[in-house]
Amino acid sequence: MASPAEPIVRLEGVRHVYGPHGGKGVEALRGVSLAFYAGEHVAIIGPNGSGKSTLAKHLNALLLPTEGDVWVKGWNTRDPRHWRDVRSTVGMVFQNPDAQLVATVVEEDVAFGPENLGVPRDELRARVDWALDVVDMQAYRFRPPHLLSGGQKQRVAIAGVIAMRPQVLVLDEATAMLDPLGRRDVLRTVEHLNREAGMTIVAITHFMEEAALADRVVVMHAGQVVLDGPPREVFRQRERLQAWGLDVPHVTELAARLHALDPAFPPDVLSIEELVETACQVWAGQEKAL
Ligand SMILES: Nc1ncnc2c1ncn2[C@@H]1O[C@H](COP(=O)(O)OP(=O)(O)OP(=O)(O)O)[C@@H](O)[C@H]1O
Ligand SMILES: [Mg+2]
Repeated sequence: MASPAEPIVRLEGVRHVYGPHGGKGVEALRGVSLAFYAGEHVAIIGPNGSGKSTLAKHLNALLLPTEGDVWVKGWNTRDPRHWRDVRSTVGMVFQNPDAQLVATVVEEDVAFGPENLGVPRDELRARVDWALDVVDMQAYRFRPPHLLSGGQKQRVAIAGVIAMRPQVLVLDEATAMLDPLGRRDVLRTVEHLNREAGMTIVAITHFMEEAALADRVVVMHAGQVVLDGPPREVFRQRERLQAWGLDVPHVTELAARLHALDPAFPPDVLSIEELVETACQVWAGQEKAL
């Protein structure tokens, strides 16, 4: 996707140290510089403790840098006068759906965020309608959230965030606690928001198949960005990723093994559809050559 010159979110030399000032704390980010552009779908991967959640919390001023700066649409997140602007520009969805639901009825839950932003009644109703449509939970609007499945709860949580009309949606392992069906539905919702509503997506995930769906993959290791590029380029570097304790998608692993058996088979395949198509092309070609 074409990137306009000005990023929506920009981090410059961000260092973050948890713990006592002056004392010896935990250095979770060690000089991170990154930019996120309008309409991008970015996946962030990295081993446990590499600083992914710490990075996510810097994107909407839940955490402030110990050193360096974060800019959201030109607002420095250090400036408390702009925290409201920053937080309505960058919405955040976390791992545990139960911890994010606040009301006893789905539609009230979705209305909670925009109501707090002071959105007037009529517009509030329109926003809740739109958000419930997007996450396909209109049929559940009068139900109590605690009776929903994990995937449904997570979609309600997403509705509550998008009802505030953020330009950027940050998901910190939002599918980690879901079963495969719940995960699929949440991923579809996120794809829809990116493609149809043009929302910028920053999704932290441990699932490499999810990362392969993004336009761009950022790899974190020990508080630094160690790789940043399109999924095909990132997942081509299988050995480096493995050295950091990361896998490639299963289908890419399979393609790499096929490549070892037959160098004509490309090692950087990202989806099952692509694997099948490539196999047909490569091996049908060879049959002809025989
Ligand atoms: N509130 C905190 N106080 C002190 N140290 C923290 C705190 N939160 C995180 N850390 C430490 O900061 C480092 C980065 O943690 P972070 O949660 O950002 O990593 P992560 O990549 O999100 O890991 P995971 O994959 O397990 O979610 C780790 O060493 C962690 O122990
Ligand atoms: Mg984390």
